[in-house]
Amino acid sequence: MRIDILTLFPEAVRPMMEASILGRAAKKGLIEIHCVQIRDFTDNKQQQVDDYPYGGGWGCVMMAQPLKACLDWVTAQAGPKKRRVIYLSPQGARFDQGHARRLVSEYDHLVLVCGHYEGVDERFIQTCCDEELSLGDFVLTGGEIPAMAVADSVCRMVPGVLSDPACYMGESHWDGLLEYPQYTRPDVWEGLEVPEVLRQGVHRDIQAWRREQQLIRTQARRPDMFAAYTPQSPEEERIVARLTGREKLVYDCRPAVPEDVDALVAITGEASDYLRQCGVDQWQDGFPNRDTLLADIAAGGCWLFTHDGAPAGVVCLYAREEPDYAVIDGAWRTEGAPYTTIHRAAVKAAYRGRGLADEMLQLCEDLALGRGYGSVRADTHPDNRAMRTVLERRGYALCGQIYLTRSTESDRRRLAYEKVF
Ligand SMILES: C[S@@+](CC[C@H](N)C(=O)[O-])C[C@H]1O[C@@H](n2cnc3c(N)ncnc32)[C@H](O)[C@@H]1O
Repeated sequence: MRIDILTLFPEAVRPMMEASILGRAAKKGLIEIHCVQIRDFTDNKQQQVDDYPYGGGWGCVMMAQPLKACLDWVTAQAGPKKRRVIYLSPQGARFDQGHARRLVSEYDHLVLVCGHYEGVDERFIQTCCDEELSLGDFVLTGGEIPAMAVADSVCRMVPGVLSDPACYMGESHWDGLLEYPQYTRPDVWEGLEVPEVLRQGVHRDIQAWRREQQLIRTQARRPDMFAAYTPQSPEEERIVARLTGREKLVYDCRPAVPEDVDALVAITGEASDYLRQCGVDQWQDGFPNRDTLLADIAAGGCWLFTHDGAPAGVVCLYAREEPDYAVIDGAWRTEGAPYTTIHRAAVKAAYRGRGLADEMLQLCEDLALGRGYGSVRADTHPDNRAMRTVLERRGYALCGQIYLTRSTESDRRRLAYEKVF
């Protein structure tokens, strides 16, 4: 990797680029970093590199001519390469590890142009630069510090610069998380101990602790990153669920009895309020109501789910022909075959997003399978995203659209789903 830093202050940049790990890597010939004085390429006697801005205003603007001449010289020196010319600018895309990874993998020559004063003549940026990168949402006096940051973060990923790729692959921002806390000797400093698990030295336990710490830190310090992170293993899923208070709860279920009807009305009532708040025109016509639920209980198809004894959800499974399923815009997967149907799936607000909907559908599928049926059907409103997500995640196929003939809701379309065993 060759990097040319075009600057008015090469003497400020060079010592930093020649120090420590990068200096050693340059000596080994793994990287080449050149700090080039832009002023050497002026075509005027005074070696003037900047001038007053057109239109007036504060400060001076760096002229295009010396910058272009400097760039041409650097390009000729480096010869044919996969080159990227980058202007460091507070107006550029915010530089991050993703940019660094892209630059090291796609190019072998970076030209980093450092502005100063009020910046650089726009025409140079337009005609000569491939992209603009910013170090962050603040303004510095010059592009030297951002250029050094870009050069450093790119060069440390050049093969051989660090002893092992694992050195940078385990670090913050590599896989969407921050790194775990680090400790070194002594065991106790200022009364603070190194965590026991690290002193025990059991590799598997250390790995598990570190991953957990990464998740804890990222949630605390960078909620934006944490929210965007997808757990990579069931163990990570468990940790994330615990950290977000979304740990799966343990539920009990049993066939509902008439004495449960008040609890069932409360659950379906909450669900209907929630659908209304979400703008979903489903369960807004007074159904299901007390009578419907009592009929469900009497028919023996109604199941009550509880958590720690408290009512949490309800679902019904019927093995009867559904008149509204006889006509479908589309096609059922098992046309003509006996089927079961899920109705009234509703979860109390406190248990939303905590695994209950999955458990309810699992129960229905187990019951249907156990009774020798080949499929389970369900329908939901096209705007009921929550239900659609659960059904689709569990492998229910979207078969088409049915219409509720008995409902008084304005929108009686329902999406028809079927899961075949
Ligand atoms: C004072 S700044 C010019 C700022 C410019 N007038 C503006 O408002 O966008 C001078 C130079 O510092 C560099 N610079 C300043 N802040 C930067 C940042 N956050 N990231 C990258 N470069 C920066 C740029 O090269 C810029 O040309």
